[in-house]
Amino acid sequence: MPILKVRDLSVDFPIFGGILQKHIDSVHAVKNLSLDLLKGETLGIVGESGSGKSTLGNAILNVLRLTAPDVKISGNISLVLDGNETELSRLSRKQSKPYRQHIQMIFQDPYSSLNPRMLVKDIIKEPLDINTDLTNAEKNEKVDWLLNKVGLNTEQSTRYPHEFSGGQRQRIGIARSLATEPNIIVADEPVSALDVSIQAQIINLMMDLQEEFDLSIIFIAHDLSVVKHISDRIGVMYNGELVEINDTDAIFESPKHDYTKELLRAIPQPDPAGREERKKSRLGTS
Ligand SMILES: Nc1ncnc2c1ncn2[C@@H]1O[C@H](COP(=O)(O)OP(=O)(O)O)[C@@H](O)[C@H]1O
Ligand SMILES: [Mg+2]
Repeated sequence: MPILKVRDLSVDFPIFGGILQKHIDSVHAVKNLSLDLLKGETLGIVGESGSGKSTLGNAILNVLRLTAPDVKISGNISLVLDGNETELSRLSRKQSKPYRQHIQMIFQDPYSSLNPRMLVKDIIKEPLDINTDLTNAEKNEKVDWLLNKVGLNTEQSTRYPHEFSGGQRQRIGIARSLATEPNIIVADEPVSALDVSIQAQIINLMMDLQEEFDLSIIFIAHDLSVVKHISDRIGVMYNGELVEINDTDAIFESPKHDYTKELLRAIPQPDPAGREERKKSRLGTS
């Protein structure tokens, strides 16, 4: 059952140039893209840098105009809650507010996505200030509960983001994203900036939270190995288009599109035999 439907989404960023700053060209960042996010699933979205993954995520979050006021967006994005479908792009900011809290984002860079001048508890509390009528005591209680859920101590709430490691900062970002009890999380390369040893911890945390809160997750990554274990289905983006979408097993076992095959070949092979083979072929060509 879909919880989010994207239909014929196109996003064009105009490029201005010359002394008159005339509209000279456009970047077609997303082209006619349709997909469903199913309730409770993790949909991995992969593709090389510049393929339009973040633009897709930002379109779903409705934040493209914040950085690109002249952006042209067409198509439909609808949220399906309790059988009721709401077309989000037709609503004003005010009208869409009660729906928007159901969709939250986790960002790539835990270093720049947290306000360095805010205490951790205030960072996590902010979405509650904006979206709820809870009392201050209730908010504080919720912050402690959220910190616990992401594996941090409540005593750490009166510290600043710079006092935490990259992995801990991403845990703070995750706690913040969960504050409004969203149904949908868009995670834009949430582990790309982290050490490989930390990546698995964060991915495991997200899988646990998904189960506990019945989240539907769009997990964006630039390579297939990151999304393999977390995704029920995987969509492959290439040059603004969704070129293939299928169950994770099918993507790995019988990829249809040439670019998907290329992404599969780019995954490092952990097996020693394969490593020997590659070493031999390297030696052979040198
Ligand atoms: N605010 C913007 N203004 C102009 N072009 C943009 C903007 N954001 C993204 N783009 C362009 O859109 C294309 C897709 O970018 P993006 O969605 O960030 O790709 P990805 O996340 O897959 O790396 C790129 O060509 C990028 O330069
Ligand atoms: Mg991106």
